[in-house]
Amino acid sequence: MSPDAQAESEKPRQVMASEIEAFVIVEDDVIGRGGGVPRDAFRRAPGGWYYLCRSRELRRGPVGIDFDQLKFVGFRDSARRIAVLSAQCAHMGADLANGRVVEGRLCCPLHGWEYSSDGSCHRIPASDSIPPFARQCAYPSVELHGHVYFCNRAVAPYPMPFFDGVSRDDLLPAAPFEFRVATPWYLVGANAFDVQHFRTAHDRTLVGEPVVDSPAPLARRISATYRVTGDGWRDRLTRVFSGPDVTMSATVWGGPLVLVTARFRRTTSYGLVSIRPVTDLQSIVTIVVWVPRRQSWVGRLVDPIDAVIRRSFIRAFLLPDVSAASGIRYNPRALIDADRELAAYLDWLRSASCESPDISHHS
Ligand code: FES
Ligand SMILES: [Fe+2]
Repeated sequence: MSPDAQAESEKPRQVMASEIEAFVIVEDDVIGRGGGVPRDAFRRAPGGWYYLCRSRELRRGPVGIDFDQLKFVGFRDSARRIAVLSAQCAHMGADLANGRVVEGRLCCPLHGWEYSSDGSCHRIPASDSIPPFARQCAYPSVELHGHVYFCNRAVAPYPMPFFDGVSRDDLLPAAPFEFRVATPWYLVGANAFDVQHFRTAHDRTLVGEPVVDSPAPLARRISATYRVTGDGWRDRLTRVFSGPDVTMSATVWGGPLVLVTARFRRTTSYGLVSIRPVTDLQSIVTIVVWVPRRQSWVGRLVDPIDAVIRRSFIRAFLLPDVSAASGIRYNPRALIDADRELAAYLDWLRSASCESPDISHHS
């Protein structure tokens, strides 16, 4: 055995995202109730972009998030750049999110090993030498007007997308809100393609036929016009101030990220929806609502209020999904013709999930 191979074989075994996702989670009796879903239909944690935190949370130190059976941690280095690393320390697996940032390096809470933003270990307090396995996986991240997103692959399968036809500076984001749902990750994004449910769950009646296309190899978009038919005060106000119809466009990127545009006669709202698997049957959905910035300085004063109001309307609009879609399962044999867009979406997602590259996270 060569010295390199010897060193490789002596590395401690660390379970990486690429290995976890290779596990098959779809059990016929769980997902399909014998409904014939292929056992490798959906991977546990698809490669793509996920919400991490608000930028300002990083001022207090590292921020960690649970991600299925993994954990990621973000922090700012000495150049103020955001770094995202695997959160289980290469030494004995302590959670680096419980550590602190020292001179731009992430310091493990247990024995103080210090990691740079690229995941390399810079210092071990109890040793002069640094073994080759002392390294964390590093992941791409982006900061969008005060919100941090990261990719759970060392190399992103696609760049972090944004809404069509607008630049980041055209829009102002509101504070995020979050739902913990008893719905598998792949059925959360599928909700946008579940045309049937808009009438019952959201008081939106379909006008005409939806249009589905694929603006990029790992993206699928549905656009449909709905009439706002609810009798609640929010829907009445929506009809008066925004208009009676809304054209909603939802573009799902790879499965875990959905960009939604709701275009009314008088205004357009935007929503960036991140779906993070927590277990195979539960997800955390983080939504950031964006509103168009006004040009005048008076308008600029109004924008944050507008963002807060729209955030509250959109939160109320989405809330019925939390209970209505709780516990749902995918059984292709139970779908009917009215579910055809939903069925086609899940077929597409199955192949898109498989196309998402598996990249080793070992250095
Ligand atoms: S577990 Fe992190 S330094 Fe020991
Ligand atoms: Fe919905």
